[in-house]
Amino acid sequence: QEAHAAQMERTFIAIKPDGVQRGLISEIIARFERKGFKLVAIKLVTPTKSFAQKHYHDLKERPFFDGLCDFLSSGPVLAMVWEGEGVIKYGRKLIGATDPQKSEPGTIRGDLAVVVGRNIIHGSDGPETAKDEINLWFKPEEVTSYTSNQEKWLY
Ligand code: PPS
Repeated sequence: QEAHAAQMERTFIAIKPDGVQRGLISEIIARFERKGFKLVAIKLVTPTKSFAQKHYHDLKERPFFDGLCDFLSSGPVLAMVWEGEGVIKYGRKLIGATDPQKSEPGTIRGDLAVVVGRNIIHGSDGPETAKDEINLWFKPEEVTSYTSNQEKWLY
């Protein structure tokens, strides 16, 4: 049971400065919790611009790269690691399409955001980025490993 829990899929989720400033932390965490995903790491940090550039390194050729990095480093970000079966893909589903004008009602961006430059939340887009982003934002000892009581009812 312990070994199984330790190997469960993990993803990196961040509430960006707009989501923190708008008071949406509990609303967003609640959606991941109620689904059945497990919070295994969390911290509030204001990233430097160079840290933001590392986080978004895949996008450095895009025209919005500089603005996006300025935005991410403009205030506290709630960095989290969530765990559970299918959490990478389904986490993205809970978040909704990148452009809030296109995300469905019922998703986080669909319900709570209006424009792409202020889309309140980030989620890893695949297993490789999930691993890289967790390692970038968290030291290994900051990521907990525990068995929650609800797991026996979920799996
Ligand atoms: S995807 O599928 O989410 O990777 O979509 P993509 O379009 O590649 O977007 C990658 C990240 O860039 C952000 N983005 C933008 N920011 C500001 N302005 C514009 N026009 C814009 N287009 C995309 C988008 O929100 C993604 O950031 P994260 O933090 O991953 O959501």
